This record gives sequence, structure tokens and C-alpha cells, in this order.
Amino acid sequence: MRVLITGAGGQVGHELLRLAPEGFEAMGMGSAELDIADAAQVAATVERLQPQLIINAAAYTAVDKAESEPERAWAVNRDGVAHLAIAAERLGIPVLHISTDYVFSGDARTPYRESDPPRPTGVYGASKLGGEVELVANCSRSLVLRTSWVFGVHGNNFVKTMLRLGREHEELGVVADQHGCPTSAASIARALWQLAAQYREQGTLPWGTYHFSGAPACSWYEFAVEIFRQAHELGLLPHVPQVRAIATADYPTPARRPAWSVLDGSKLQDACRIPASDWKIDLGTVLKGI
Ligand SMILES: NC(=O)c1ccc[n+]([C@@H]2O[C@H](COP(=O)([O-])OP(=O)(O)OC[C@H]3O[C@@H](n4cnc5c(N)ncnc54)[C@H](OP(=O)(O)O)[C@@H]3O)[C@@H](O)[C@H]2O)c1
Repeated sequence: MRVLITGAGGQVGHELLRLAPEGFEAMGMGSAELDIADAAQVAATVERLQPQLIINAAAYTAVDKAESEPERAWAVNRDGVAHLAIAAERLGIPVLHISTDYVFSGDARTPYRESDPPRPTGVYGASKLGGEVELVANCSRSLVLRTSWVFGVHGNNFVKTMLRLGREHEELGVVADQHGCPTSAASIARALWQLAAQYREQGTLPWGTYHFSGAPACSWYEFAVEIFRQAHELGLLPHVPQVRAIATADYPTPARRPAWSVLDGSKLQDACRIPASDWKIDLGTVLKGI
């Protein structure tokens, strides 16, 4: 099965190419080869490559920068997804698309279900929600996988930032009042390939919106403590830095972060038998990769 993978140079895109199972021809396109914000380029590329499935891992992911550059965020995260959806529908193929916990406000205190109303608080989340809406409106067979707190060997992420800071400082403050689910890029790629395999075998999927993330939920503070513990054990850090629990108010950012980003993954587990991934195990694999 020929699968077009957009955003191939990103954290998840990279893992999608690396983990492509036998029987799939993964055609990866980085942003330089295919700009999804360019409607004509998307139409021409899809027409030329004739994929049987599109997996969209391309996105404008600079959450804070999106606040001062909203046009670009909307162009990629909403319009880019619409271009892919239209091109896929013309060819009669489905789209698997990745979205985010940032479509929610973060005011909840129980894990978010797919039926909960989205209410993004910033440009990034709003533009990603716009992409979800465009996808469903323009493509009759699509699946949205919302995920959160992505980390991997490739690209920039919290794990790499903590490793750098842990080498530079004896002590550091990490936000303890935001909770979410760290998710390895590789586990997202595996879930997407599992969905692609189910589609290939059955000729269909239970189309719709699903949540997929790592488990269990934790705070950034707890995530940092575990990163330092494992990194020290693996010899990546000479010492375990002291981690101080700080409040969101002590670490202001241009975009408001959801205090609660915990996603309930039971719908995906029930419909497709894809369980949440244990992020502590995945963290070990990523640290060894780094
Ligand atoms: N990172 C997270 O914590 C997180 C959390 C929840 C959900 N997600 C979602 O997960 C998905 C994958 O994210 P990620 O962590 O892999 O992000 P990433 O590492 O930033 O990768 C995104 C990729 O998209 C590419 N891209 C940007 N604009 C593009 C365009 N106009 N056309 C084609 N490609 C373009 C980027 O290329 P350039 O670098 O060349 O611009 C980059 O390679 C995204 O849908 C994201 O919204 C991420």
C-alpha cells in the first residue's frame, strides 16, 4: 500500500518513516518537498504520487510563536489540512490526521473524551481544531488522532530540553500544576501504522476522532523527575539535579497552556484495540536513542 506521509521531517513524521511495516511503501515528504499550505502543490503532488492513503504529520507546532504569527498557523493547520482532504477525496482515499489536546481549554478535572466540547484558548489550538473541522467537511473517510506532550529521539522536545538544563544546572524549577500524558513519537507512529494495517486488511476503519497518548498522566514536574532519574541511571547525566515544583504563574508564556491535558484513550482501545503506551518505558527507549 502506497502511503503519502506529510511533515516527514518532524518528530512523528520521522518515526512514521522509520517504523513503516512491511507491505507499505511510505512516501515521506518534508516541508521543503511539499508545503501543505500550497493548495496547487498539494493537488499536483497527490495526483502525481497516486497514494492509497495519506497520513498527515505536518503541522505548525510553535505554540507561542503562533500567537504573533496567526496567519501562518491557520494556513498550515487549517487550510493545509483542507487541501489534503480535498486532494484525498478527489482520489477516493482516506486521511489519517494528527491533532492535539490543545483543542480543549484544560479546565476539566477528569480525562477528556472525544465527545467533550472543544474550546481552545490560543491560536495553535484553534487552528488545529479548524483543521479537524475542514478534514471532516472535505473528506468522507478520515480519522483524527488527538495526542499530547510528544517526545522522541528526533526533533526538539521537553526531554531534550531537560537533558540540556540538567547538564547546565544543579537545580531547576519545573511547572507542577499542569497535568498531561507524555507520548512518544514512536508510539504515535505505531498506532497510525496499526490503523493503516487495519484499513488495508478490512478496506475500512471506524472513521472519526480518537484520543491516543501515553499513560499514566503526570505533571511536567513529575515528567522531569523521571527524565533525570532514568538519564542518570543510563549515564547521560553526571548528577541528578534538584527539581523544584513551580506554578504556571511563575513561568509565563505568550500562549496559555491547558492546566489539564489528560486524554481518555478508551474509545480507540475499544474500537481498534490500540492501548495507551507506557511513557516511562518509551522514555527509556528514547534516552537510549539520544
Ligand atoms: N509536539 C507536541 O507536543 C504535540 C502535542 C500534541 C499534538 N501534536 C501534533 O502531532 C503532530 C506531529 O507533531 P510533531 O511533534 O511531530 O511536530 P514537529 O516535530 O514540529 O513536526 C511538524 C512537521 O511539520 C512540518 N511542517 C510545518 N509546516 C508545514 C507545511 N506548511 N507543509 C508541510 N510540512 C510542514 C515541519 O517542517 P519544518 O520543521 O521544516 O517547518 C515539521 O517537520 C502535529 O499534528 C502536532 O500538532 C504535537
